[in-house]
Amino acid sequence: MNARVAVVGSGYVGTVVAACLASIGREVVGVEADEAKLAQLSAGESPFFEPGLDQLLAAAHQSGRLRFTRDIADAVDSSEVVFLCVGTPPGANGHADMSAVRSAAASIGRALRTPHVLVTKSTVPIGSGHWLASVVEAAYDGPQPIDELLAIASCPEFLREGNAIEDFLHPDRIVVGSDTPAAIDKVFAVYRPIIEQDFDGGDPDRCPAAVRTTLLTAETVKYASNAFLATKISFANEIAQICELVGADASDVMATIGLDSRIGPRFLDAGVGWGGSCFGKDLLELISTAHDFDHVPTLLQAVVDVNNYQRRSVIERLHRHLKTLAGKRICLLGLAFKPGTDDLRDAPAVAIAAALLAAGAVVTAHDPMILSVRDLPELQIEVDPLAAAKRADAVVLLTEWPAYLALAPEALAFAMRGRLIIDGRNALDGDDYRRSGFTYEGIGRAVSR
Ligand code: UDX
Repeated sequence: MNARVAVVGSGYVGTVVAACLASIGREVVGVEADEAKLAQLSAGESPFFEPGLDQLLAAAHQSGRLRFTRDIADAVDSSEVVFLCVGTPPGANGHADMSAVRSAAASIGRALRTPHVLVTKSTVPIGSGHWLASVVEAAYDGPQPIDELLAIASCPEFLREGNAIEDFLHPDRIVVGSDTPAAIDKVFAVYRPIIEQDFDGGDPDRCPAAVRTTLLTAETVKYASNAFLATKISFANEIAQICELVGADASDVMATIGLDSRIGPRFLDAGVGWGGSCFGKDLLELISTAHDFDHVPTLLQAVVDVNNYQRRSVIERLHRHLKTLAGKRICLLGLAFKPGTDDLRDAPAVAIAAALLAAGAVVTAHDPMILSVRDLPELQIEVDPLAAAKRADAVVLLTEWPAYLALAPEALAFAMRGRLIIDGRNALDGDDYRRSGFTYEGIGRAVSR
């Protein structure tokens, strides 16, 4: 059976899901309300930057297996499985804002005439699946009993920005939760080529685990995964703080504990902390869920607190070296929340730039993918790193773009008026910088390696 698929919402996750499912042979219709984005997608172009996505969209467009529409009813008519990929940004009360999900679910309810599995892919608060069923049901006005037409499933998405296509096509696991076993089978049928790695470019030695579970468990898995990854990073950052106090080297400590297979080497890089569209939002949601049940999630709150401290500590370091910051020229290298993306959501660099500007510093910046930051008009963004570093009192590395690792310390020294470099990602060779007369400070790094 080649189930026809609809993907509602063509944001980051939705576009990747739609293009990847078309690439493994599914017939896909994507929904996008914004006219300009719809025009781009319909021409086979990606409205945002993600390596490989443009090619995948163009190929899917040419194959005729992927089309886009602004009409949810059209998408529902043309499918049996609907993936819900609309945005769930942080809301005012700590919980995610579900208005886009609600409105998409109501439109689906109004259009429902044949059996469908409605699958949440957006990260939705635990319990949303059951709530979603009630929203669809309230909007439904057809003759058949709704129970014969609607099953809800959760299939959380674990893709990382910058690696989204690889993560989607070669995942470690595919999790599908539903209280209707036949719905799980239908979703697994859509994913069959990925589960068996039976597609052009599939790797039969890397078949993902296919996990069947309940709706509530699948919804919780997504939050638990992101909370655990964020916890690893905050753990590394807390150890880095202690390393600095005692004179140990956090990079070496983390690399060494990571050799224990129970710990593993990944997501232990200390630095200015995590950002992006998922970790902060999902931790906030999980913490709010615990509070709803009168439980205080002490560890999760500490994970957030440590992360906030990592950002503040950059300002503290600059204060320690430069004393007053008013009028000082600070150059930020990297603005995106990680390399390989132009995404500024919850980026440590944006929070740090805002704090420096508030302290009266002149803040310049460079990022290979970013030319302006809407909320920070005073931030002076230059088109090359040395121009941003011109006459700077200090340079702070905030995103470990490869171009910054290749910078010659002497060239930076020539451009700057000060000799301070804060390596917020522990990505540079500190000794190299020291040899060129810099005061180099990493995060939890011993004075000399
Ligand atoms: C994350 C999850 O990895 C992904 O599974 C989920 O679907 C969405 O959220 P993403 O936000 O794209 O993906 O970025 P990721 O590569 O996980 O990095 C998140 C942040 O952690 C970045 O700011 C990165 O710089 C930081 N990080 C990562 C560290 O500070 N140290 C590390 O060791 C690893």
